[in-house]
Amino acid sequence: MSFFNKIIVAIVQRLPKTIVGIFSKKYIAGETLDEAVEYVKTLNAKGIFATIDVLGESIKTKEEAVDSKKKALQVLDTINENKLKANISIKPTQMGLSIDENFAFEQISELVEKAKQLNNFVRIDMEDSPYTDKTFKLYKRLKGNYDNLGVVVQAYLKRTYDDVVVLNKLDTNYRLCKGIYIESPNIAYKNKKAIRDNYMNVLETILKSGNYVGIATHDEFLINAAYKKIKEMNLSNDKFEFQMLLGVREDLRDKINADGYKMRIYVPFGKDWYPYSMRRLKENPEIAGYIFKSIFNFK
Ligand code: FDA
Repeated sequence: MSFFNKIIVAIVQRLPKTIVGIFSKKYIAGETLDEAVEYVKTLNAKGIFATIDVLGESIKTKEEAVDSKKKALQVLDTINENKLKANISIKPTQMGLSIDENFAFEQISELVEKAKQLNNFVRIDMEDSPYTDKTFKLYKRLKGNYDNLGVVVQAYLKRTYDDVVVLNKLDTNYRLCKGIYIESPNIAYKNKKAIRDNYMNVLETILKSGNYVGIATHDEFLINAAYKKIKEMNLSNDKFEFQMLLGVREDLRDKINADGYKMRIYVPFGKDWYPYSMRRLKENPEIAGYIFKSIFNFK
């Protein structure tokens, strides 16, 4: 972490919760599911899709994990009742992966089954590296029973290309992102160019395999490179979509949408926005820079 980032992290961590709440609002749909529904409706009205995530603190007991699952089931029902163009994203540890792998499998199976009945889809987010293997193992087990789920791969991990070669054979629906956690240089690229190069390498491999991919990035360089690749390969629009986080680069989001490409926004909501924001901040101090800029309105 650079000296500048350390200072920003220290400042943001000491800000009162009310102040943090002001800028966190930009990145979160609200505390309630109703607020998330209203937000998704405004996106849908513009032709933009959503993936809804219930924010939660780290899980220590099975009861908490069951509670997280119930909230996700409620989101699936609510999407259906409101006819929203949305699916759900879940964090495996939130469903109990750090407690018991079989238990997490049962929990997520229930969610994917419910989604299947409602003609919907579950995206399994990728967390930090202690969970990479466990998450792929879980995904592969689920994939044996269901088609309506997908997983996330992180371009900063050196292993990702090899993972994708295996996952391509399973007819995988991907989200490709850079990766948000702080990982060791032994397993992760640290340099911006190396991450971008790997992102494009992995993207090309997925696109060539014919698997579906959510191109999840706000990096204009990568978005332009993806546009170029899509045109070069003469790909039809049903092979990919673009994805962004709520509140980030809305100008670019609207441009991609206006260009006629499918766009999906990650919409987090929930009472746990404060620990979520702080955890994200510690995981990736660059976010502190964005927050700092938004508070003080730097360009
Ligand atoms: P980069 O970080 O270079 O950002 C490019 C530009 O976008 C910045 O210069 C800035 O202008 C803007 N920007 C980016 N993030 C911002 C922010 N938070 N606030 C304000 N501006 C910001 N990661 C992971 O490890 N597991 C996962 O499951 C997911 N899931 C996921 C879903 C979706 C839909 C997205 C878009 C991203 C994720 N991520 C993720 C996060 C991802 O790995 C990555 O950390 C961020 O998307 C930032 O990387 P970019 O590719 O946007 O590039």
